[in-house]
Amino acid sequence: MAQAPCFDLVFFGGTGDLALRKLLPALYYRHRDTKDCSGWRIIAVSRQPMETAAYLELVHEAFQRFIPAKDFDEAGWQRFSTRIEYLSLDGLNPDDYGLLSHTLADSADRVRVFYLSTAASLFAAICENLAKAGLVTDLSRVVLEKPLGFSLESATAINEAVGRIFREPQIFRIDHYLGKETVQNLIALRFGNSIFEPLWHRASIRDVQITLAETVGVGDRGEYYDHYGALRDMVQNHALQLLCIMAMEPPSSIDPDEIRDEKLKVLRALRPFTPEDVRNKIVRGQYRAGAIDGKAVPGYLDETGIPEGSTTETFVSMRVDVDNWRWARVPFYIRTGKRMQERMSEIVINFRAVPHAILPGNDAGAVNRLVIRLQPDEGIELHVLAKVPGADMRVKPVKLDLDFAETFKTRQWDAYERLLMDVISGNLTLFMRRDELDAAWQWVDPIHAAWAAGSEAPKTYSSGTWGPTASSALIVRDGLSWKEET
Ligand code: BG6
Repeated sequence: MAQAPCFDLVFFGGTGDLALRKLLPALYYRHRDTKDCSGWRIIAVSRQPMETAAYLELVHEAFQRFIPAKDFDEAGWQRFSTRIEYLSLDGLNPDDYGLLSHTLADSADRVRVFYLSTAASLFAAICENLAKAGLVTDLSRVVLEKPLGFSLESATAINEAVGRIFREPQIFRIDHYLGKETVQNLIALRFGNSIFEPLWHRASIRDVQITLAETVGVGDRGEYYDHYGALRDMVQNHALQLLCIMAMEPPSSIDPDEIRDEKLKVLRALRPFTPEDVRNKIVRGQYRAGAIDGKAVPGYLDETGIPEGSTTETFVSMRVDVDNWRWARVPFYIRTGKRMQERMSEIVINFRAVPHAILPGNDAGAVNRLVIRLQPDEGIELHVLAKVPGADMRVKPVKLDLDFAETFKTRQWDAYERLLMDVISGNLTLFMRRDELDAAWQWVDPIHAAWAAGSEAPKTYSSGTWGPTASSALIVRDGLSWKEET
C-alpha cells in the first residue's frame, strides 16, 4: 500500500459534475488503498451556501451512482468523509477568500493544490484572488481543466494571467486521456521493448487511425458543448495528445520536459490546414435522431440548451500529415464523435502489406495491425496472418490479444486517480506545458476560421452510426478504409 504526503486539496467547482463523478471517487479509491492518509485534507468550494454535512450527503449520494457497489463500503466512506470540508465561496469575489485563508492558516508547509474545475474564463480571476489572499505558497500547485481557452488568443490571455501568479512548474494543465492506463502503456510498449522501434516509421507503417467514439449525446452539457464543439472538446486536446505519444521520437529519459519536448516537436510538425485542405481533408458532422442500443435518441438540435439551427459539430474526422522524416507520407486519421455506433477509443496502426503475396488468402492486401485499445476493455491486439487448420495452405487474420484486466487482475486506476496523485507528488510528465497548448491551438484555429468563413453546414449522420458517409469517403480516397470497414 502506498503512502501519500500531507496535502490540502482545494476544489473550485466542488458541487460540479466533474468533482462528484470523477475527482472525489478517484480520491476515495486512493484513500481506500493508501496506508496513512492522516495528512489529507480535501476542501470543496463552490458558491452554493451549504454546511459540510449537507455536502457530504450530496457526495454520498453521488458515490452510490458512480462507484460500483463492490468497491464501496460504508466504513471506508465514513473514514474518507472525515477528510472533506465544504466552503461556500464565490471565486470571483475577493472578499470571500477570508474563510479559505482561515481554513488554510498554519498549513503553508504542506503541499497545497488548487484544482480549478470551473469554466476557463474564471481561471485568471480565481488565481488573482488566491494571490491577493496570500494563499499561494512555494508548495502550491494549480490544476487547470480543459479546454483551456477557446482559441490561441484566449488561451494566451489565460496562461499569462495564471503565469503572473504561478510559475510554470506549479501549473498542471490536465488532459485526462494522458492519465489512462493504456496511454501510459503505449509509452511502455514503445520504449520498453526493442521490437517496435525498428518498425515505427514510414517504411513499415501504412497509416494510423485514432478513433475516440462515444455513444452518449451532449446530455445536460448542451450549453457548454454548443459553444465548443467536437474539435475544441476532443481533437485539440485528447486526440492530439494521443497522436503525439504515438508519433514522438524516443525521449532520452522519462523526465517530464524530455517527453514534453518531444511531443511539442510533433505538434510543430503537423501540416497546417489551408482553407482548401479544410474542405477536402476534414469532415464535420452533427447527429440526428436515431437509435443507440435499440433505444431511440433525439437529434442534436433537439437536445436541451442547443440553439435553433446550431451548426456546432458533434463529429469530426480528418486526415493529418506529420511533416518530418519519420512520418513522411504516412496518413494519420483522427475521428471523434458523439452518438456513434459504439463507445470505443483506440489507436490503430496498420503496417504495410507484404511486398509479394504467395499465400492463398493473403492476396486481398491483409496487413498486420497493432491496436491500442483505450476503452472499453483496455488492451493491446496484434493482428497477424495464421494458417487455417486443415489440408490447404490457407491463411486468415487472427489476433494476439493482451487484455489488461485479465493479465494483471487488478482494478484499473481511473485516469483522475493517477493524475491527482501526480499533482500531489509534483510530477508534470502527464500534463501539458504551455508551449504544447499554444502549438495545438495554433494548428486548430485555422480550421475554425475556415469553417466560419464558409457557408457549408456540418454533414448530418444518424445516431448509432459511424458518422457521415463523407467520413468513409475521406479515407477511401486514399485507397484505405476505417478499421470496422475492412
Ligand atoms: C471530455 C469531454 O474531455 O472527455 C467530453 O469534454 C467527453 O465531451 C469526455 O465525453 C470523454 O472522456 P472519456 O474518458 O469518457 O472518453
